[in-house]
Amino acid sequence: MNKTRSIVVASLLAGVGLMSCNSGNMRRNPGKIYTPDMTYSRAYDAYTKNPNFADGQTSRVPITGAIAVGHDLPDHLMEGDTTAYKSFNTSYRFNEAELKEGGRLYMIYCGICHGGELDGNGPLYNGGNGKFPAAPANFKDGKYLAMSNGTMYAAVKYGKNLMGSYASQLNVKQRWQVIAYIRKIQSENGGSPFTMVGNTMIVKDSSGAKVTLTADTIIMANH
Ligand code: HEC
Repeated sequence: MNKTRSIVVASLLAGVGLMSCNSGNMRRNPGKIYTPDMTYSRAYDAYTKNPNFADGQTSRVPITGAIAVGHDLPDHLMEGDTTAYKSFNTSYRFNEAELKEGGRLYMIYCGICHGGELDGNGPLYNGGNGKFPAAPANFKDGKYLAMSNGTMYAAVKYGKNLMGSYASQLNVKQRWQVIAYIRKIQSENGGSPFTMVGNTMIVKDSSGAKVTLTADTIIMANH
């Protein structure tokens, strides 16, 4: 018992002793620096003065036209230029996994209005009884089967009437992935043959028959 007590007392004393090292004064000295190269960066920090540039700033604005690694070239499609929309297209071709991802993104961003079945009757619209006041496009309808890829892309980039833009949620590749998914489902429902495919892929034609497509056998349908 005594032994335990003396251990407790000793550790309390040690604690107090350690605390007293600071002796109540504010410590303004950072202590010894053993690795100055690591403590003080030899490179210019982002917000420090930089004598190498005329404006004295270290942070530089990217060169005009620079594109971040992994990003697509800008598409130059102007809002409202429906003539340009019609002929606009992509050279992206997707494999099974990328197309599946397109379907996943569709279900996240589009399905709520356009419907999981792409019939324009998602839960938000719900045959006119839902919260969304305007009828979303029914992608199985002839008008949208015949719509060009570029017009679809423009709808995603800029929105269309009550539909908002999805440009901030989906990057360029993802927008095309979603469109590819819509195109594939459309091709199984009377639309043109599905062409946005890169690797071998089995798709259904409009009669429901399975067709194997490879990069060589793809007919460039004029979407
Ligand atoms: C909040 C509901 C809503 C969401 C979410 C939504 N849309 Fe729409 N979309 C609409 C409505 C409503 C229209 C019909 C606009 C019109 O013609 O007035 C439409 C029209 C379209 C059209 C036809 C454009 C045209 O020129 O006629 C396309 C293509 C389209 N949407 C694609 C998408 C895609 C792809 C997504 C997902 C990234 C998406 N939409 C998400 C509501 C939505």
